[in-house]
Amino acid sequence: MISHDKIEKNSMLLLVLVLITVSIGGLVEIAPLFYLKSTIETVRGMRPYSPLELAGRQIYIREGCYNCHSQMIRSLRDEVERYGHYSLAAESMYDHPFQWGSKRTGPDLARVGGRYSDEWHTDHLKAPRSIVPESIMPGYPFLAKTPLEYDDIAAHLETNRMVGVPYDDVMIKNARIDLEAQVDPDSDGAEAVLQRYPKAQIRDFDGDAKILSEMDALIAYLQMLGTLVDFDVYKADGDNLR
Ligand code: HEC
Repeated sequence: MISHDKIEKNSMLLLVLVLITVSIGGLVEIAPLFYLKSTIETVRGMRPYSPLELAGRQIYIREGCYNCHSQMIRSLRDEVERYGHYSLAAESMYDHPFQWGSKRTGPDLARVGGRYSDEWHTDHLKAPRSIVPESIMPGYPFLAKTPLEYDDIAAHLETNRMVGVPYDDVMIKNARIDLEAQVDPDSDGAEAVLQRYPKAQIRDFDGDAKILSEMDALIAYLQMLGTLVDFDVYKADGDNLR
């Protein structure tokens, strides 16, 4: 048996023993991952983003909202009391890239969907201090005036499919139509959007039906965040298979 002071005084020996210890720890953690089919439990309710939500998510990333907002509720009591049920791995399984974030200058947004009205979001995004006087969030008034560019939305879905998001051919073919239909409840396509993307919210989001703006897409995205899994029926101990 090597006594501990020998290890502490001999840096090479210490190094070798550290490497052995770390390797064992690494193997125990990493090796099982090669044999598991999935580390994410499937949860009822999860579906890929609708084309409009996906486009809104792109705006969220482009504007760097993740620099100030996380989308990851930890399983700590104060977080759960403030934000709602802790985030499930499945809830970000279709996120490429994920938006967990690492900084909370503003609140977590993982379950912001449905917490405020569309008007609240529109006013807040245009001029945060008109709603929350002490806010330090920058305003994004231009989003409401900028028409959403979505010529490439089908390609966007297809790219997501390449990395494992289960968009089927019909979804990709109809991406443009579905995107337009989601802001127009009276359109013929609205029903199809709901069928393909259950729980999708269908309405004009920014209060200006004349243009399909970046604001429409961003609010559609915010309003669905955290709303897909029904936690009244979700059980943390099993049977959540779709
Ligand atoms: C400089 C940091 C910063 C950036 C960037 C930022 N926010 Fe915020 N955000 C805040 C702060 C601080 C608050 C809390 C005060 C308030 O409500 O305005 C907030 C609040 C919010 C809220 C209300 C959340 C709640 O639960 O009350 C939403 C929604 C939101 N931000 C969305 C966004 C979106 C979308 C973007 C990107 C377009 C964005 N934020 C960019 C700092 C930021």
